[in-house]
Amino acid sequence: MNLILLGPPGVGKGTQAKLLIDRFGIPQISTGDILRAAVKELTPMGAKAKGFMDSGALVPDEVVIGIVEERLAQADCQKGFILDGFPRTVPQADALGQVLSGMGKSIDHVVSLSVDKAELLKRLTGRRACANCGAGYHVDFAPSKVAGVCDACSGQLVQREDDKEETILNRLAVYEAQTAPLIAYYQAAGLLRSVDGLGTVEGVQADILAAVQA
Ligand code: AP5
Ligand code: ZN
Repeated sequence: MNLILLGPPGVGKGTQAKLLIDRFGIPQISTGDILRAAVKELTPMGAKAKGFMDSGALVPDEVVIGIVEERLAQADCQKGFILDGFPRTVPQADALGQVLSGMGKSIDHVVSLSVDKAELLKRLTGRRACANCGAGYHVDFAPSKVAGVCDACSGQLVQREDDKEETILNRLAVYEAQTAPLIAYYQAAGLLRSVDGLGTVEGVQADILAAVQA
């Protein structure tokens, strides 16, 4: 199954993608995770992306399109994939369509998740992650932890650079201006499956599975 998870920052794309990996045995392709790894490893691409990411702006289309094109060609993507955080602009969506058609493939479903802005802010300002293994935590939601160390590996819990409130507000504005138009884009293509992102993680997952009829 070839899936896109679409929705604003903090709606739960990454959380839901992790569960879909187990369910379908297909990889998650998170452009955000790939870019953050490049920043951490101080690669030339990371150096180019860092300023955009820290301010909550989008990294230029040609950079992320190149990342995804390369990733889709890898062996583990041949039986399907979950795109998380890509495409994020109409040019990215057009490029994805061209890349896939060149591979004789297409998107099966675009799952569009939504929750209100107050909930997005709460989810993002409270998000924490293990600096060592990447495990996710939240100050209010399960697994809940305000500070301290990771249960799995005792790594330090940190807040993402772009999860400061001012940057979050910019990311939400960028989403509305540049990414929200993809809802109509995929609706017109007959691929949009709208799912309410409010509720338990398990409840949202069940609604996603129903929407893709799995
Ligand atoms: P990216 O990493 O893609 O970030 P994002 O889209 O802003 O999404 P997030 O990871 O913040 O949120 P999410 O929807 O995955 O939510 P999560 O599951 O973590 O992008 C970061 C940056 O990279 C961009 O700003 C840009 O600069 C660059 N970039 C990336 N892709 C790009 C592209 N294609 N083009 C250009 N630039 C690009 O959940 C959030 C929190 O809520 C967690 O704490 C979680 O535990 C909690 N939570 C989840 N579900 C629930 C629930 N049901 N109930 C309660 N809490 C929940
Ligand atoms: Zn850890």
